[in-house]
Amino acid sequence: MDVILFGPPGAGKGTQAVAVCNTVGVPHVSTGDIFRRHLREGTELGLLAKSFMSKGELVPDETVVEIVGTRLSEPDAAGGVLFDGFPRTVNQAVLLDGWLRARGRKVDVVVNLVVPDEVVHARLSGRRSCLSCGASYHLLHLPPAVDGVCDRCGAAVVQRDDDSDDTVWRRLETYHSQTAPVLEWARSSCRVVDVDANQAISDVRLAVVAALSS
Ligand code: AP5
Repeated sequence: MDVILFGPPGAGKGTQAVAVCNTVGVPHVSTGDIFRRHLREGTELGLLAKSFMSKGELVPDETVVEIVGTRLSEPDAAGGVLFDGFPRTVNQAVLLDGWLRARGRKVDVVVNLVVPDEVVHARLSGRRSCLSCGASYHLLHLPPAVDGVCDRCGAAVVQRDDDSDDTVWRRLETYHSQTAPVLEWARSSCRVVDVDANQAISDVRLAVVAALSS
């Protein structure tokens, strides 16, 4: 099964990804996580991505498509994938669709997490992320058991550079102008399920799992 977890920055895609992967039994492919891993490793790709991410802009399509193509050719992606943060432009969506169809696959469902901009802003201001494994926390809604320490791997939990006030608003602008049109494309070519993501994390999880099972 190939699933796209869609929504604005801070909608809760990363938070819900584990439940989706467990339900569907596919690996989690997050383009943001891939770029941050490259950045930690100091690769050329990581530095290039950072120059766009830190301004709240999208990394150019040709770079994104290349890293996704590489990830999809790994053996664990052969039976389907959960896409998180990809596709983010209509061009990326069309390329993904062609790539899947050439392999007898298709996007089975797009789960669209719906959250107002003001809520996104509050979530991202309070978000803290693990420097090592990327696990996502929130100061109020989902704090780690020990302050500043990742529950999952024990590394430091800090604020992401692109979660600063100005950059969050810029990321939202980028979402509305370049990424929201992907939803129009999706509604005309695959099954899209809208989920109210402005509720407790556990309730969103139930709604997402129900969307996958229906
Ligand atoms: P990426 O890492 O994909 O960031 P994003 O889409 O902006 O999404 P986030 O990770 O910020 O949010 P999320 O929806 O995962 O929310 P989370 O679960 O953490 O991309 C970063 C950058 O990389 C982009 O800006 C771009 O530059 C580049 N990039 C990546 N992919 C690209 C692509 N395909 N093309 C071009 N460029 C690309 O939750 C947020 C917070 O809210 C957390 O603190 C969480 O605990 C809390 N929370 C979650 N759900 C709830 C809830 N229901 N109630 C209360 N709090 C909640």
